[in-house]
Amino acid sequence: MTREKTMRKFPRVKTPDSTLDAVKKGYLFVTEKCRNLKTDIFITRLLGRKTVCMRGNQAAEMFYNTEYFERKKVAPNLVKATLFGHGGVQGLDGAKHRHRKQLFMSLMGRDDIIHLAELTVDKWSEYAEKWENEIDDIILFEEVEKLIFEAVCEWTGISLERNEVNSRAKDVAAMIEGAGSLGKRHWKGRAARTRTEKWVGDIVKKIRADEDHNGESKVLQRFAWHEDLEGNLMDSNTVAVEVINIIRPTVAIARYVTFAAHALHQNPDSRKKIMDEEEYLTNFVQEVRRYYPFFPFVMARAKKTFKWKDYKFRKGLRVLLDLYGTNHHPFIWENPEMFNPDRFKEVVAGTYDLIPQGGGDYDQNHRCAGEWITIKLLKESVRFLAEAIHYNIPPQDLSIDLSRFPAIPKSRFIIKNVRRDKQKTTVDKNLADIVHSEKQIS
Ligand code: HEM
Repeated sequence: MTREKTMRKFPRVKTPDSTLDAVKKGYLFVTEKCRNLKTDIFITRLLGRKTVCMRGNQAAEMFYNTEYFERKKVAPNLVKATLFGHGGVQGLDGAKHRHRKQLFMSLMGRDDIIHLAELTVDKWSEYAEKWENEIDDIILFEEVEKLIFEAVCEWTGISLERNEVNSRAKDVAAMIEGAGSLGKRHWKGRAARTRTEKWVGDIVKKIRADEDHNGESKVLQRFAWHEDLEGNLMDSNTVAVEVINIIRPTVAIARYVTFAAHALHQNPDSRKKIMDEEEYLTNFVQEVRRYYPFFPFVMARAKKTFKWKDYKFRKGLRVLLDLYGTNHHPFIWENPEMFNPDRFKEVVAGTYDLIPQGGGDYDQNHRCAGEWITIKLLKESVRFLAEAIHYNIPPQDLSIDLSRFPAIPKSRFIIKNVRRDKQKTTVDKNLADIVHSEKQIS
């Protein structure tokens, strides 16, 4: 038998192009196709381009092998124009990527994470006081976006005028919303990105014009003076794109907080367990990240022609790894469609099993730089919701449409009659349970 003959053909979907189907099915597109074709990998066309779609931990491990895949020119313009921006870390490869990524990872030390958590809890207290005097309905999702925005701006070293909080936070939210739409939402997202890049870019220019640039520890300072591998500063727009790569996804944690409020509502017994058991709180947060839909997939393209499991990946072939489908894969997770924080009591999720924020290594791969921040802010926010305030949940539509990206409960989670129980909760300084086991936090 010749070598070619031992190759397997990628299972194919019948329709020549699956774009419309993907838009219709959203988060469930790859899962449904895999189920029908009895496979974890198939080939189709998306936006006219041949794309291999795959799910599962083995596929994830292969996807994060930097010998096989690269990110250059992979993200569609629609995504760059809203979510990522141009020239950011997401599109870099090799040594350039590792060098830029180091800049992000240098912000992920213990003190920095705890500082951001403290600023966030302070904002929760401030906002809860405001909500207590509010007689109208409070849209939790939008309020949490604002409070995290204020906290992360302070952490970053950006000072905000009181009257610009709403509009700037709305712009950041619009960039996230805009990535998943081709219509009005998309154009709002584009305009919001242009305004935000100009705003942050102008601040960067001011920092650079200031000869006496003390305070290097602030995030903004570190980015403004970061040198590339040739010793050159990034242009001010790229600095803005990267600073926004901190602010925007931190604000996006409000989505997880909203999902956590949803989970608390659906599983009322969890509230007490969250207050009593630190381990349960961590498991609850991990289950929120596993169960709820957020980032649906990541994409890359083959750097060279290679063989994996007898499938031939030709150089340039585009590949999509289904994050949501992997987090719900029935071979990895028992009863994946059940919300069950206790599953993490018995199971330690591997590097490629629980991948809502990507997989692999933080320094070498494109795995999310802010995963520890996400878990920490989520833990502190859930603790606040469970033990620092009481609230009523009026009748509303809490359904989550899985064909909408990014997903969110329809009503955006309305609360009312907020009462505070405690003046302020303290931030737990122990980060051991949130840090990736293979990596020590400095
Ligand atoms: C709201 C929760 C978050 C989710 C769902 C999320 C999800 C993701 C995903 C799926 C990726 C892409 C992984 C890949 O391409 O393989 C990513 C990358 C990234 N995330 Fe997050 N993220 C979140 C929060 C954060 C936070 C809080 C920060 C920073 C403070 C952050 C900074 C980044 C950066 C800089 C990258 C690019 C990494 C690279 O290309 O090497 N993210 N994130």
